[in-house]
Amino acid sequence: MSVTHPAGYDVRDLALAPEGRRRIDWAAREMPVLRLIREKFAEEKPLRGLRLVACAHVTTETANLVRTLQAGGAEALLIASNPLSTQDDVAASLVSDCGVPVYAIKGETTATYMTHVRTALDSQPSIIIDDGSDVVATLLKERRELADQIIGSTEETTTGIVRLQAMERAGMLPFPSIAVNDAQTKHFFDNRYGTGQSTLDGIVRATNILLAGRTIVVAGYGWCGKGVAMRARGMGANVVVTEINPIKAVEAVMDGFRVMPMAEAATVGDLFVTVTGNRHVIDQFHFARMKDGVIVCNSGHFDLELNLSALREMAAPPVQLRPFVEEYQLRANGRRIIVLAEGRLVNLSAAEGHPASVMDMSFANQALAVEYLVKERGRLRPGVHLLPEEVDREIAGLKLRALGITIDTLTPEQHEYLTSWETGT
Ligand SMILES: NC(=O)c1ccc[n+]([C@@H]2O[C@H](COP(=O)([O-])OP(=O)(O)OC[C@H]3O[C@@H](n4cnc5c(N)ncnc54)[C@H](O)[C@@H]3O)[C@@H](O)[C@H]2O)c1
Repeated sequence: MSVTHPAGYDVRDLALAPEGRRRIDWAAREMPVLRLIREKFAEEKPLRGLRLVACAHVTTETANLVRTLQAGGAEALLIASNPLSTQDDVAASLVSDCGVPVYAIKGETTATYMTHVRTALDSQPSIIIDDGSDVVATLLKERRELADQIIGSTEETTTGIVRLQAMERAGMLPFPSIAVNDAQTKHFFDNRYGTGQSTLDGIVRATNILLAGRTIVVAGYGWCGKGVAMRARGMGANVVVTEINPIKAVEAVMDGFRVMPMAEAATVGDLFVTVTGNRHVIDQFHFARMKDGVIVCNSGHFDLELNLSALREMAAPPVQLRPFVEEYQLRANGRRIIVLAEGRLVNLSAAEGHPASVMDMSFANQALAVEYLVKERGRLRPGVHLLPEEVDREIAGLKLRALGITIDTLTPEQHEYLTSWETGT
């Protein structure tokens, strides 16, 4: 049963708050960069009076981001960016302990998810923190009149940026949007090491299978795919990569992976992971060719990478074997295909998402991107923007400091060498 309240929230159960609070504090220990930003925000209040909507996976790390934004003086409302990724205890603690209006329940229907998006827009925000671009897209489709009061938005993930760029090309994006995902201190670490580890974590928590010796097919060799392939190999799996981009495919070959089309990979894989940001990467044709008992899952942003409606038509009604584990038996050949987490991000549905120390850098980017939008208010053109490189370097520097690692600095002689064209051999 969910709880609603006129003051505004929709969470599973407020009694879960103490557990959420403990886990949020545990994550905070691994988020030193965000802590430094929070201290600075508490002193300077750069977001004073700002009404902000955050659409994000409601996890312990997101809770620490929201606490940082509050410390900066913002009034934040939080909604889930995915129906299955909410941690109900975290949602409860944010409502009870921090007074944040949270609209997020693990397992909410798509209709409820969209109601929450609309409720968030009703709060008349001036900044949107988005993850997948559903809030911005809904604003443009249904609440266009709100666009004038928006200072800007920030976007967490690759898929959301692809959508924002499409809006910009169509001349539809009326305000600046910061592509947080494209900061180096975001995708180098979050997408690669975060998704790499947490995707395997989600698979193992859901199934408890041994990865060693299995043939794991990774669809997509972008930042996330590289991470999943690298970590799966580290666990002793035989990794096959599928790609549509010849450069990424050559990279996968040179990294030592077998590369082949999905039509062929479908016949050899034991476990399939999609991380492409594209639709129907595993389709009817592929399901029909798979071996008996294979496991299929997705770690890309939306649940459309596996064509599950085709699978439903090909199979008897699924049988739930364990939480997040459903088995489909194909009518044509009797083979069984196991789907994890209904094709939604397996790392956030069946596990806890990325470890906090990775989200520390991603959310440092989010916090500084919001501050940047406020500082540059009125000066940024409508469209997709990168955060300035100094911000990336500052975050990496703070992370190194927190890790107790120092690095070299350029000597004046080296600086001159690197900036002049006159010195050669
Ligand atoms: N699970 C998570 O926590 C998490 C974290 C970050 C990003 N993401 C999501 O994961 C997805 C991938 O993100 P990324 O940063 O790796 O993107 P990316 O653009 O770096 O990589 C995607 C790769 O998929 C390839 N691709 C596209 N269509 C394909 C197809 N039909 N078959 C095989 N390969 C195909 C592309 O060529 C590209 O190399 C996005 O949806 C992103 O939003 C998820």
